[in-house]
Amino acid sequence: MAIEVLNNARIATLDGPGYGMIEAGALVHDHAHILWVGPEHDLPAEHANAARHDMGGRLVTPALIDCHTHIVFAGDRAREFEMRLEGASYEQIARAGGGILSTVAATRSATDEALIAQALPRLDALLAEGLTMIEVKSGYGLEPETELRMLRAARRLAELRPVRVRTTYLAAHACPPEYTGRADAYINDVCLPTLRAAHAEGLVDAVDGFCEGIAFDTAQIARVFDLARTLGLPVKLHAEQLSHQGGTALAARHGALSADHVEYATAEDAALMATSGTVAVLLPGAFYTLRETQLPPVAAFRAQNVPMALATDCNPGTSPVTSLLLTMNMGCTLFGLTPEEALRGVTTHAARALGLHDCGRIAAGLRADLAVWDVTSPAELSWRIGFNPLHARIFGGTE
Ligand code: NIG
Ligand code: FE
Repeated sequence: MAIEVLNNARIATLDGPGYGMIEAGALVHDHAHILWVGPEHDLPAEHANAARHDMGGRLVTPALIDCHTHIVFAGDRAREFEMRLEGASYEQIARAGGGILSTVAATRSATDEALIAQALPRLDALLAEGLTMIEVKSGYGLEPETELRMLRAARRLAELRPVRVRTTYLAAHACPPEYTGRADAYINDVCLPTLRAAHAEGLVDAVDGFCEGIAFDTAQIARVFDLARTLGLPVKLHAEQLSHQGGTALAARHGALSADHVEYATAEDAALMATSGTVAVLLPGAFYTLRETQLPPVAAFRAQNVPMALATDCNPGTSPVTSLLLTMNMGCTLFGLTPEEALRGVTTHAARALGLHDCGRIAAGLRADLAVWDVTSPAELSWRIGFNPLHARIFGGTE
């Protein structure tokens, strides 16, 4: 592939301490991977005659990664939003058969084409902010065919747009109406066999669950995780979102890539996560939407060196959010992250939460997935609200 030099750039590599800034920087890529990055005056002679692309002094960062989404779903939950404003809680709505189950009904009755058509505008909103990698979960089918259809729809998005997709199997998201009161039977009859089928079709990059009073307990999730291990699949978990259930400790015991939400996680949980290398995926959009008050233990994560990622959790119920820039702002304002932590949260640490080693930083050998911004300092990305300063998105070296 033709070699190109991006020059006259301010590059936040996130490789090394702080932002890893290179002022008056240059980056060499071959329209797939980064070959070299450094100060422009040190550009190796072998690249001196390569085509130049002047960045105009703009800020270049790694492209953004959304490591926790449910963007494939049908219908909306505007009525549930109104009910919450009238005083009903998320748990009350779920226990009355609404919540996740209302999206399950809509998703089951949607065609494949409709699932894709409804997900695309959400994906496009994320791409417009410099995203090149997105994780998408199943979990609104809760029966074999719709779980598989969701995963196939998610994979299809990467054929329709210049983006990479990682798919996560989340049949342990809620107990469907036909199994009310029989959650163990649902795990045995549906969740486990469908995981085998989805894996056999090559549709599963990771396995997730929802460990909560309104969803599944640690023993039920452990059975799903045990099968994941047998199949050689990494696991992650929606843990300690609404209450402390012990999901984080379970996830850490299973060497999970991430424990997500974690508002009710404790300092002991953080220590376990540090030992297992589990990333804390913070989801301020859900915290904001549900008007939660329990803050995730950010100080404990920092003290234990637990990497913190930030993601939209884009879903119709708890986080109808399609902006990682807004998520960064919320991470700072609601959870007290620094703008540097927020940027690492949607790049370096998001990659780690997905088990990826080829993106999330700017360094030789990694993919040339970059975002070019009309800002002066990286902190501006978290500072503004409802403003998108993206100048260009570069996916595998191609704008
Ligand atoms: O990540 N916590 C569980 N799952 C989603 C919500 C899904 C829904 O309400 O539709 C979440 O917040
Ligand atoms: Fe979620």
